[in-house]
Amino acid sequence: MRQKLVVGNWKMHGDRDLVNRLVEGIIDAAPLVGDAVEIGICPTYIHIEQAAKLLIAANVGIGLGAQNVYCEEKGAYTGEVAAPMLAQLGVSLVIVGHSERRELFAESDALIAAKFKAVQASNMIPILCIGESLEQREAKLTEQAVLEQLDAAISEIGIAAFHNAVIAYEPIWAIGTGKTASPEQAQEVHWLIRDHLAKQDAAVAAAVRIIYGGSVKSANAKDLFNQADIDGGLVGGASLEVNEFISICKSAD
Ligand code: PGA
Repeated sequence: MRQKLVVGNWKMHGDRDLVNRLVEGIIDAAPLVGDAVEIGICPTYIHIEQAAKLLIAANVGIGLGAQNVYCEEKGAYTGEVAAPMLAQLGVSLVIVGHSERRELFAESDALIAAKFKAVQASNMIPILCIGESLEQREAKLTEQAVLEQLDAAISEIGIAAFHNAVIAYEPIWAIGTGKTASPEQAQEVHWLIRDHLAKQDAAVAAAVRIIYGGSVKSANAKDLFNQADIDGGLVGGASLEVNEFISICKSAD
């Protein structure tokens, strides 16, 4: 059985007060969410340490994540943050290849694969985001787009690396738009991804968690998470409100 995973991606939101309120609120409510669900939160880099202190003191098993990382271990890379630096703060999950990084910061498949490797080299778990644009969906190129992104990572990293990784299927047209993929649309792509992995390694395909992202909210979470190949969610906007986020987490139980 794959444990469900719900991760809050706070993106470039929050100040010190909001981070305190969110982390404390989630810590307080976490016991209401069953053990069948793993919870993670991804604040901005500069709020990670603040969140880490609160999470360590509370010790309720909420995973700390980062939204990005650089692929090199150290060096003259002004403005970047290395995987060992994140690991040292207690980060266990790192998002790589989010569509906002691919689109707004021109991240290539090769860079994303290198980041994935760097995350695992520091004993953290990469959450690899893949997903199609609206144009690709309308042109019936969803399968091709999603599997190309997945294959680009597999060819660099190898299928076995997915034993310790999470895949997030995030249709770009559903991110931050309020338009969610229907449970059937999402399930279809999750199944495609798992089936594609199974052709290369059945054990990896059975074990890897494939979470859905794109306008997940309490009103649609249960129907999404009930699908056979949807193992939880990567939640943006709705993770910035404690009750809403916790109710999404409960929907995965
Ligand atoms: P959203 O973002 O829930 O606000 O659509 C999801 C994501 O980008 O991970």
